[in-house]
Amino acid sequence: MSNDSNPSLDQIRKEVEALKWHHSIDLGNGIVTPGQDNSAKKMKRLNFPDSFKGKTVLDIGSWDGFFAFEAERRGAEKVLATDSFIWQGSVDWAGKQGFDLAKRVLNSKVDEQVVDILDISPETVEMHDVVFFLGVLYHMRHPLLSLEKVASVTKEMVILETAVDMLWHRRPAIAFYPTDEVGSDPTNWCGPNTAAVVGMLKTVGFKRVEVVSGVRSLPWRIAKAAYYKWKRGHQFWSGLRFDRIVVHAWK
Ligand SMILES: C[S@@+](CC[C@H](N)C(=O)[O-])C[C@H]1O[C@@H](n2cnc3c(N)ncnc32)[C@H](O)[C@@H]1O
Repeated sequence: MSNDSNPSLDQIRKEVEALKWHHSIDLGNGIVTPGQDNSAKKMKRLNFPDSFKGKTVLDIGSWDGFFAFEAERRGAEKVLATDSFIWQGSVDWAGKQGFDLAKRVLNSKVDEQVVDILDISPETVEMHDVVFFLGVLYHMRHPLLSLEKVASVTKEMVILETAVDMLWHRRPAIAFYPTDEVGSDPTNWCGPNTAAVVGMLKTVGFKRVEVVSGVRSLPWRIAKAAYYKWKRGHQFWSGLRFDRIVVHAWK
């Protein structure tokens, strides 16, 4: 029997199609969730270790869980996915259903916990060898405090990915977004530059901090700003101020 006429696969396809996805998760049998995020492409910039064998991993702000499932696939001994905003149904277009469906179809053992970042501590989520803090920092009203929470549960290293702003400034600087001025998204609160991200990580106790994927060249950012102006109507000039970086930091 071909996959196309397999009733359980048809059922999974229907369930996938009924949801709005953030992550593009390969569920096998040719089914990939249609996420807005090209998660597999992001992997290269994240520079994940090839193996998490024997490690415990905490994924903070997991959403559909792509990176938690990837840690499990790379041999992590135990993975805990946490989230609050999306998983608690704070918006009507997304929730925890994507994570639940992917976990079921992948037959994953990833643990899950609804917890706000500001409530993260060794008592609430335990300590973990490796902590992912991906795409979350710029959503924080209290960026330094949130990094203190991240550090408090990290035994070895954190892998952090974030949007950055204030790129013309060499000194550590953080833009504050009191409204929805960035991407028309009121949940974007702050835009640190690279020096601020590195400085904050050192401040909260990481001894070695390495920018593994830094700000891209001005021509690259011009092309990206032009694309987002065309695709989503974003402002071209302010688009040049932004990029995304990936930082690995060790205790
Ligand atoms: C841009 S998404 C990033 C998702 C995923 N980590 C990635 O990199 O693709 C930000 C995630 O952080 C979560 N989040 C935002 N504020 C939070 C908070 N205060 N506590 C816990 N999670 C939060 C959101 O629910 C969302 O899942």
